[in-house]
Amino acid sequence: MQSQLEKLKKETLLAIKSVKDKIDLEELENNILGRKGGELTKIMKGLKDLSVDVKKEIGKLANEVKVAVEEAFISKQIELSQEEWGEQLKKERIDISQPSLPVKDRGHLHPMTVVHRELEELFTSMGFMVLDGPELESDYYNFEALNIPKTSPARDSQDTFFIKDHANWVMRTHTSPVQIRAMQKYGAPLRTVVTGRCFRNEATDGSHEHTFYQMEGLVIDKNISISNLVAVMKELLQGVLKKEVEVRLRPGHFDFVEPGFELDMRCLVCGGEGCGACKHSGWVETLPCGLVHPEVIKAGGLDPKQWTGFAFGLGSMRLCMQKYGIDDIRLLHGGDLRFLKQF
Ligand code: FA5
Repeated sequence: MQSQLEKLKKETLLAIKSVKDKIDLEELENNILGRKGGELTKIMKGLKDLSVDVKKEIGKLANEVKVAVEEAFISKQIELSQEEWGEQLKKERIDISQPSLPVKDRGHLHPMTVVHRELEELFTSMGFMVLDGPELESDYYNFEALNIPKTSPARDSQDTFFIKDHANWVMRTHTSPVQIRAMQKYGAPLRTVVTGRCFRNEATDGSHEHTFYQMEGLVIDKNISISNLVAVMKELLQGVLKKEVEVRLRPGHFDFVEPGFELDMRCLVCGGEGCGACKHSGWVETLPCGLVHPEVIKAGGLDPKQWTGFAFGLGSMRLCMQKYGIDDIRLLHGGDLRFLKQF
């Protein structure tokens, strides 16, 4: 058996050396080391029939042969791979001296991307973290945890797309559910903004889309007041629009804030005379906001006696329209290159 092993080792190492491609190498490896019918495997299996002393001696030799053969297979595999890559590299060689083709249509960022990036940059500079949340949301996070029970009339104004056979899941109607998720995950104090898509079952017009973007803002800390809220709102509008804008604050009802406000801005598209962008009122409903309701702070896992906060839900598509003078929201998702190329 000793000579049989030595012969097998010698012949196998020679055969490995002369192999030219990976398929032949694999076949050879199978013939020698294959679990069923490999020559060395057969010898190893036969060891059990030997006497204890002989088994010890031959077993040691068999193992040495196995290690040597396995190493040779691995080295050959590496050698063949390197040859293959070398061939591929030669084929794919790039002539860097060749003049490039003229660029005809250079892409650029969508105006909504520009607005979101500017907003996120502005808020990170004020110490806010940027978070994300699921678009397919549970009824609990989208409504219940935000103090909007099934009986609340607020659900009527946020009719959305439900998922067939899954009554407890909705396409989120606003970015506010991330308020709860953020408090549960990060606790307090907290400063965060969330940009993302929202969905509503709406008849579309110049200022309404069924799929639109919002940016949620949430600050949780001690002794937060309305003046903190207004200061941040002003910073936000000036940061994106790069100019002083006329705003008005009026009472607004949202179940998850108390008190709640609507911060409107004088329409920059028509200068306040009335157009599609401002529903012909001269004012654009851009920034609903308020102080976070104690029930919402509780749902976020925090003690409302200890923590206070403010939140806002910016309609970022409407802000984008104001920034660029766009009078119909549907242009933003229309994909019309004649429109997009203007930015
Ligand atoms: C909300 O969605 C609240 N979650 C906002 C909020 C957050 C209030 C935190 C208080 C505290 P509202 O339904 O008004 O509120 O929507 C917020 C903004 O999203 C609107 O002012 C508007 O600018 C934008 N928006 C709402 N519906 C549409 C739509 N169909 N198309 C385009 N923009 C919309």
